[in-house]
Amino acid sequence: MLPILLLGQLTALCAARHIANGMEGLEGHIPRQREVARFMHHQVQASNFTTSDSLLRLRAHRAEDVRKGFQHAWRAYKKYAFGADEINPLTLEPVTTRNGWGATLVDALDTIYIMGLHDEFSEAADKVSQINFDKNDGEPSKVFETNIRYIGGLISAYELSGNRMFLKQATALADIMLEAFDTKTGIPWQMWDVQTGTGSSEAGPPTLNNLAEVGSYQLEFFRLSQLTHDPTYHNAAQRVYDVILDRNEPRKGTVYSVPGLYPVFLDINTGKFINGKPNLGGGSDSFYEYLIKTWALSGFRLQRNLDMWLESLHSIKKYILTRGSDRRLYMAVGDDDGLDSISDTFTCFFPGTLALASRLLNDTETLNTAHELLMSSYNTFSRMPTHIGPENFGFLPAGDDDSDLLESQRSEIKKYGFYLDHPYYLMRPEVIESIFYFYRITGDERYADWIWEIWQNIKANCAVDGGFAGLRDVRLGRRGGLVGKQESFVFSETFKYIYLAFASPDVISLDDYVFSTEGHPFKRSIPFNGTF
Ligand SMILES: *[C@@H]1O[C@H](CO)[C@@H](O)[C@H](O)[C@H]1NC(C)=O
Ligand SMILES: *[C@@H]1O[C@H](CO)[C@@H](O)[C@H](O)[C@H]1NC(C)=O
Repeated sequence: MLPILLLGQLTALCAARHIANGMEGLEGHIPRQREVARFMHHQVQASNFTTSDSLLRLRAHRAEDVRKGFQHAWRAYKKYAFGADEINPLTLEPVTTRNGWGATLVDALDTIYIMGLHDEFSEAADKVSQINFDKNDGEPSKVFETNIRYIGGLISAYELSGNRMFLKQATALADIMLEAFDTKTGIPWQMWDVQTGTGSSEAGPPTLNNLAEVGSYQLEFFRLSQLTHDPTYHNAAQRVYDVILDRNEPRKGTVYSVPGLYPVFLDINTGKFINGKPNLGGGSDSFYEYLIKTWALSGFRLQRNLDMWLESLHSIKKYILTRGSDRRLYMAVGDDDGLDSISDTFTCFFPGTLALASRLLNDTETLNTAHELLMSSYNTFSRMPTHIGPENFGFLPAGDDDSDLLESQRSEIKKYGFYLDHPYYLMRPEVIESIFYFYRITGDERYADWIWEIWQNIKANCAVDGGFAGLRDVRLGRRGGLVGKQESFVFSETFKYIYLAFASPDVISLDDYVFSTEGHPFKRSIPFNGTF
């Protein structure tokens, strides 16, 4: 295996192992200012955004239209379910899904702030100040969701508004949630009981967890440590990387066979991978996302996280990215032992994150790859009569024989380039998010137009009295039936990315902020020199 590794990847690999052995402590090697200075000159956003008056007017009009859509959904939530986790947009009933603390309330805060809805923001802030995180609805909580929705939302609300109540609430919750990291290895439980501190998993053996749900704390916890000057949070999150690198050696013929392509499932007591072919979709996605984003948020100081990202990216390019029979580049499921030519809409965050990474690293070749992935992701939306794409989809690898496919799948591949597996849509943001990155990185209005087209179709198909519902079948749209579900990410991500495509490019510039996996922006300008 060694001879095929490029020298750069080999260095990255050694760096990762070296640090995993604990020789440099938890922080890893922290580069000096002059070593990271070159990255500071790599501008992420375009510098040639439109200055045409008529276009600027059109963009302002579109931003206002999105804001009205958001207000429609927010008013319904406030009227029928204020303080609940969600509203069912079809029955107008409050729904408890995420501890009962008000997931939508907290997740929506920064979007409300960014849209300049001042009255709504202060009403929401009042309500947030009353949340008591010591108790929940009595059900076990998902540690990952609690972090990305609540802690991420509170940190962002604090950074944008300067109101310290949000930071106090974020810290109160994080201190309770740290219990979930009190395990044999320090890898967190998937679920934990807020009242008793007992850990568990959602299904299967109690010590089961997955890659995304152990590796999506690093961004929030790094920032929380910076804001509180308490390294506990950051150390707990970074330790997960140490253990994973330390307890798993990539070896051909085993479940972890390719360096940096991590299986989906692991055991938190042993720290060892169990099974689940590597992919970039649900269960894995934000693990990879946080490697590069923590490096950016730290002012390019968390060197080991970058080393891990580079190692993963090398293997992703080699094994996961797969040319389809329609010549598009897809993100499959696989490793050196074969491939499943199936993908889900969660993977569609990756073109945006990859484009961000390639601008941070000034890597034009990777930007071209990211663009190819954007085109296959966008194609799952643009080819549908509704301009809205399915939850998951399959494709035929170029050169493969199609005899295993159903007749209907063959005919969809002919028509669209891919076939629909689960044809529903739950207002997920990932395709829109990636288009947003390309808009900000290139300054090309065509991308904003794509988002406008999707937004028009979301309004036509998903808008209901209670907000925005899901679709049962994106081929049929509204007449195929609606789904009575409106998760909090509709407010934190879907609306934010649509709105920001039409707001001035200075609003949450990618040169000033990093977005969390839940769409919460964290400032990139808070200095980090290796200590908190
Ligand atoms: C980015 O890389 C290109 C070569 O690909 C080089 O010409 C350019 O100067 C680099 N930009 C910065 C800011 O380092
Ligand atoms: C900015 O330049 C890029 C090419 O580098 C181009 O695609 C984009 O359309 C330009 N933006 C404007 C507003 O002209």
